[in-house]
Amino acid sequence: MTQASPLQHDCPALGQGRAIRLAEGARPEITFYIDGTAAVAQAGDTVLTAILMSRRAVRHAEFGPEERAGFCLMGACQDCWIWTEEGHRLRACSTPIRAGMRLCLAPPDLWPAGMKANLP
Ligand code: FES
Repeated sequence: MTQASPLQHDCPALGQGRAIRLAEGARPEITFYIDGTAAVAQAGDTVLTAILMSRRAVRHAEFGPEERAGFCLMGACQDCWIWTEEGHRLRACSTPIRAGMRLCLAPPDLWPAGMKANLP
């Protein structure tokens, strides 16, 4: 069973996400997963775009209660790091979304990948 992420909000005026698709709406749809919940993106989207179409943010700040949604959108600011369910970290703004991707908006228990497996 999954719980709704605190990073998911309703925004009746704009829909649920921070991003609004204004063009290229005819690309094929693909399904991926955010914290275990199915979501839809379009082939060719970045992971950041795919997430922000249905969410207001991609993660919480490390040092405060603020939410983060990426900043530079070009791989420079490090504001969009998220994780795969397998524990690998990825930069959402420079990673293409793939069908079936399973993403976590908070570090999974096994992050950094393999660290706990190596503990005595
Ligand atoms: S938004 Fe700046 S590195 Fe991804």
